[in-house]
Amino acid sequence: MRIFPNPGVGAEARGVDLARLNVTGFEAIYRAWLEHSVLLFRDQRLTDAQLIALSRRFGELDLAPVQETGRRFVEGLPEVYVVSNVVENGRPIGSLGSGEAAWHTDMSYLEYPPIASILYALEVPPAGGDTAFVNMYSVYEALPERLRRSIRGLRVKHDGTYNSGGYAREGVVVSDDPRESPGTLHPLVCTHPETGRRVLYLGRRRNAYLEGFDLAVSDALLDELWAYVDRAEFTWRNRWRAGDLVLWDNRCTMHRRDPFDPSSRRVMHRTQIKGRERPAA
Ligand code: SIN
Repeated sequence: MRIFPNPGVGAEARGVDLARLNVTGFEAIYRAWLEHSVLLFRDQRLTDAQLIALSRRFGELDLAPVQETGRRFVEGLPEVYVVSNVVENGRPIGSLGSGEAAWHTDMSYLEYPPIASILYALEVPPAGGDTAFVNMYSVYEALPERLRRSIRGLRVKHDGTYNSGGYAREGVVVSDDPRESPGTLHPLVCTHPETGRRVLYLGRRRNAYLEGFDLAVSDALLDELWAYVDRAEFTWRNRWRAGDLVLWDNRCTMHRRDPFDPSSRRVMHRTQIKGRERPAA
């Protein structure tokens, strides 16, 4: 395996066939994933069963969340979440449509958010639908000392009302008051349990709330922190090709997706590795 780091975050791993990975190969990938936070593998050919088998090497898998359409997963494969805009026989086959997905960490509204996500591209549009990643170690390190001091010990509500496509999650009573909306409080600054490095753990902006603050003060402080997220020097984007597989560390990155032409097809299969511990300061 050869590793080609990107400037902002992540790396491309070349010379790897993920369908035939021995123990040494897996260990090298695991180390590279911790070091670079996001890994891109191009030209892969995996069945869903192989995608699940690969994902299980990182740990137990989460079941796919219920899609906004009420459907849950690929028939018979509860671990596979379909991200797609394709409609077949009048029913969407997956979630998130073709619109923009705002910056987020996957499922951080849970007490034990997934540690990693794997997104495998089966069909991609000719333009648009790129996925960008941001390095939350770098974002934390870029904060001025004054700001770091002012957020020490705070907890932030990670909202569970909406998914990253902006759709209300199945079964949730929608409230746009972040103090009342469903979600989980996590430390705003977390220590990565495996690398020991600090990250700014923002989750997602919509309905976020800093515990104990007036809403307006919480919003102002969150906006100030979010202004550090979109900096090109901390980010990297993948212009997808069919056969791309991206593995990311959900504890120290966020991601977003560009919109694309709804008349083109985009079909991605995603798995997630269950969190083993609560995010901790
Ligand atoms: C996701 O947010 O997990 C999906 C991102 C994408 O569709 O590229």
